[in-house]
Amino acid sequence: MNSKKKIILDCDPGHDDAIAILLAGKSPYIDLLGISVVAGNQTLDKTVRNALNVCQYLGLDVPVYRGCGQPMIRDKQVTAGDIHGESGLDGPVFAPLTKKMEEKHGVQFIIDTLLASEGDITVVTTGPMTNLAMAMRLCPDIIPKIKEVVLMGGSYQLGNVTPAAEFNIITDADAAHVVFTSGRKIVMVGLDVTRNALCYPEIVARMGKIENAAGRLFVDLMTFFNKTQKEVFGWEGGPLHDPVTIAYLIDTSVLTLKEMYTEIDIRSVQSYGRTNCDFFHYSGQEPNSFVAVDIDTEKFWNIVEDGIRGYGKVQ
Ligand code: RIB
Ligand code: CA
Repeated sequence: MNSKKKIILDCDPGHDDAIAILLAGKSPYIDLLGISVVAGNQTLDKTVRNALNVCQYLGLDVPVYRGCGQPMIRDKQVTAGDIHGESGLDGPVFAPLTKKMEEKHGVQFIIDTLLASEGDITVVTTGPMTNLAMAMRLCPDIIPKIKEVVLMGGSYQLGNVTPAAEFNIITDADAAHVVFTSGRKIVMVGLDVTRNALCYPEIVARMGKIENAAGRLFVDLMTFFNKTQKEVFGWEGGPLHDPVTIAYLIDTSVLTLKEMYTEIDIRSVQSYGRTNCDFFHYSGQEPNSFVAVDIDTEKFWNIVEDGIRGYGKVQ
């Protein structure tokens, strides 16, 4: 297992983002410095509220920052209410929200935290990459301070918004282009592996046996998530995309990575937002990313179970 890692989590909660927060929140291997929120699965007001609700429900004293509410250039904000519901986190019932978001903007939080660091912070993104890209453009000095970027997004095979493109990338392909051309180490956790992390009913039942707030939240979230994933994609268990990034940081052996040159398609129409991963090195271009090509699903679910147990007994 890896030692404790400092991370910034940039996300668009979203059911699977919520489980990523859960997994990172009390892990002995992760130091969750803060959560910056972006529009994605739902509009920004909703994703911020959802991040605050998850932290409050789990008793996580983690600062939450409001980031960007629309893509860098593209003028249409795409959301995913068909999967995550009107609130973006349909399913659980939360107590009245008392946790407050921080005053500082999410992009400024990313800049200030990285500039003040020793260069030992991993930036994890599980939504559109607008906040990180804006931070890079506003303050390029942060780029050498980023230890690595671990992102949920893309696919070297099929997309999930179009045949070519995955949601986190297509919703702000320009932002993804900025990050993938930044020169920092990138670990791309795409649909190629997260579509194997299917949260079947037996997984929900397994985690539901853990009698604490995290176990209850997992069941409430995944019950709704599985219903919509079945309606939209026909899955028997919804693919739990975002927590795979955190599981990787907890134990890197959960994923198999392959170095590739990845280019974001920001020009075409049909394939706009595709992560063009040069699996066979046809281009001769220097690889700029470590792309996940396989996942140890048994190890992944054990990490998830350990993460839920980390919240102790009944709360
Ligand atoms: O394509 C799946 C990704 O898009 C996940 O991060 C999900 O939460 C949405 O943001
Ligand atoms: Ca997400």
